[in-house]
Amino acid sequence: MPTLMKKDILDMTSLSVEEISLILDTAERMKEISERPVKKVPTLRGKTVVLFFYEPSTRTRTSFDIAAKRLSADSISLSGSASSVVKGETLLDTARNLEAMKPDIIVLRHSSSGAPYILAKSLRASVINAGDGMHAHPTQSLLDLLTVREHKGTLEGLRVAIIGDIMHSRVARSNCVGFTKMGASVTVCAPPTLIPKGMASSYGVSVTHHMPEAVANADVIMMLRIQKERQTGFFFPTEREYSRLYGLNRDVLEYAKSDVLVMHPGPINRGLEISPDVADGPHSIILDQVTSGVAVRMAILYLVTGGA
Ligand code: CP
Repeated sequence: MPTLMKKDILDMTSLSVEEISLILDTAERMKEISERPVKKVPTLRGKTVVLFFYEPSTRTRTSFDIAAKRLSADSISLSGSASSVVKGETLLDTARNLEAMKPDIIVLRHSSSGAPYILAKSLRASVINAGDGMHAHPTQSLLDLLTVREHKGTLEGLRVAIIGDIMHSRVARSNCVGFTKMGASVTVCAPPTLIPKGMASSYGVSVTHHMPEAVANADVIMMLRIQKERQTGFFFPTEREYSRLYGLNRDVLEYAKSDVLVMHPGPINRGLEISPDVADGPHSIILDQVTSGVAVRMAILYLVTGGA
């Protein structure tokens, strides 16, 4: 079986098309394990995974934990607020102390862009970026790619609209890289205040501020949360106006293809960026994304440990 020649998974930019395909193919095979009555294989017995989360998380943390346990690895969860970071210890010193206990993999979520790169350079253990600031969320992008590929059979040639708070979204950045790399065309849409300058040229995507234009003939619509926790100013006049111009509801969905897939990385602000009937409707694959998250993270834990 081919394997991934990488110690760390830090972003989508540093993964080749072949490496992404290997992760998705491996994740597809991992899905079967979660369908068994006994959802456990001995593949990573004796390996230790530390889940180190400086930011809140439901999906990423839980799915890494479940993924590790389904592969029989030992997983240990540590939150920033419960660690000695609150006593003044630096991230690197904390990580070096964790490494002294001989973990094989450290999964890090951090509010500062670039934090996982510092650990990856300094540690022997594999480092997996579970979201760093506004920069990258590679495992989210991989699970999104897997979910779309399962529903559409391919990623090549699809039209993907990513709509919402592009400015503050690591999911948007990782998915712009991931989907374009795999042959899809991406349009990002938001108010001008929520799209970084140079987005089109940096990521090879189209940019619009008009939602019907973004959605027109889309195969995939990915809605993003307004990230109030990262916003430092006022980016739109009111939530009501934002929702009217950039919220996904049944009327806007009419512009897309009849078999369009509706995605959201979660957590959702129901009624703000997406109406409840669309979030729970027939086009929604939001919970499929969560299911794929376990399989993708099983694949990554397996592949970074050498596929042993
Ligand atoms: N999509 C995502 O990263 O969700 P969590 O913040 O709940 O992990």
